[in-house]
Amino acid sequence: MKIAVIGTGYVGLVAGTCFAESGHEVTCIDVNPRKIQALRRGEVPIYEPGLEELVRRNAAAGRLHFTEELAGAVGPAQVVFIAVGTPEGETGRADLQYVLAAAEQVGRALRQYTVIVDKSTVPVGTADKVHEVIARHTRCEFDVVSNPEFLKEGAALEDFLKPDRVVIGTRSERARKLMAELYAPFVRTESPILFMDPCSAELTKYAANAMLATRISFMNDMAALCEKVGADVEQVRKGMGADKRIGYSFLHPGIGYGGSCFPKDVKALTATARDVGLEFDLLRAVENTNARQKRCLLTKALRHFGDLSERTFAVWGLAFKPKTDDMREAPSVELIEGLLGKGARVQCHDPVAVESARRYFGDRVLYAPTCYAAAEGADAIFLVTEWNEFRHPDLKRLKATMKSPTLFDGRNVIDPRLAREEGFTYFGIGRPSAS
Ligand code: NAI
Repeated sequence: MKIAVIGTGYVGLVAGTCFAESGHEVTCIDVNPRKIQALRRGEVPIYEPGLEELVRRNAAAGRLHFTEELAGAVGPAQVVFIAVGTPEGETGRADLQYVLAAAEQVGRALRQYTVIVDKSTVPVGTADKVHEVIARHTRCEFDVVSNPEFLKEGAALEDFLKPDRVVIGTRSERARKLMAELYAPFVRTESPILFMDPCSAELTKYAANAMLATRISFMNDMAALCEKVGADVEQVRKGMGADKRIGYSFLHPGIGYGGSCFPKDVKALTATARDVGLEFDLLRAVENTNARQKRCLLTKALRHFGDLSERTFAVWGLAFKPKTDDMREAPSVELIEGLLGKGARVQCHDPVAVESARRYFGDRVLYAPTCYAAAEGADAIFLVTEWNEFRHPDLKRLKATMKSPTLFDGRNVIDPRLAREEGFTYFGIGRPSAS
């Protein structure tokens, strides 16, 4: 099949590359010329494990192309994916300007029956809107399908090639057959294609993200309660997760969710509810808890040190989660801005996100080549992203070069007993405090 993918971000590039890997001829389109030029050279502009190798292999095999020319790619395609951004817009609603602009361009470029797929996360009713926009600009037959993406950054290839499920919203038998053929290489008995109406497909994506965000905020509230009553949230978590009805996934307390999806998707779902006269109070609480949690390490540091001015702090991890360089809505941003605002110096380290971080902090912070270099002369370490390399640090080595051996473990990855035995003052999330 000939496929066009509009938008070469985390979702579009991964989807396009995986469809090429399964033998289709794919052209990826982006309005950003620098991205297209880099991709043509075989350079992937984002960090995603395994992606560069797969892009190069499929490009070399002549199955994967990159262009800024939308019409030339969409004209001959049987399936066109729209995978552009849907950032937070007015009063929390998803901003559909990029999706609708792409739809208009698609409408002008159609040459034959084509299936247009909404891959971006879009609110209920968007498939109809996209249909309307395209219909205004073409006489060709076409169907619009809702096919939200569930991949996780950091494990995007694995998630796309072996999805838990594929959700396809369409009422057209013709589109349904084409989509089933396209996804056949990736689905198994235990990971089916779920066909449904477009509205339900659109809502499924938001419901899934909102549920995951809810679990995180629930555990963060639980952690706050544990700190007050002297319980250890890690013990509570194990006790809860062992219940098969609950399970262990997404039960980790931390410093709040970030990234390009959860924050905006929770807001957008709340807005969708509001638009039809419902108040989704639960999701408002989820957001409030998250906002508090993103400040919790700074609050702990202020409580411990009092004045932070003239102090030096190491920040381990900048990306919003491990195995990505994505800094969008990362908890590190709020923490670092908070520390700088209080007059502190910040020395940070991240295995891959330094270039992304420069866009946020410029030269207001020091970028250290290793986590040990970041900790040199520091009053405390803030462990912000749970990269594997931060899980078992050499505490003796750290203590020898730090000004005062203090650790704020925002991800509960260091054993508090071990840290204290090595002479560290340790603060975790929802764990009995150092005193
Ligand atoms: P992104 O911001 O990384 O990439 C979007 C790309 O689209 C950019 O490169 C931009 O230049 C391009 N673009 C915008 N308008 C265009 C146009 N008219 N023609 C061609 N290119 C255009 O976005 P990302 O993260 O890939 O997300 C895309 C969508 O997928 C969003 O709706 C997001 O919510 C959703 N999603 C994202 C996931 C993630 O982990 N990043 C996971 C699942 C869904």
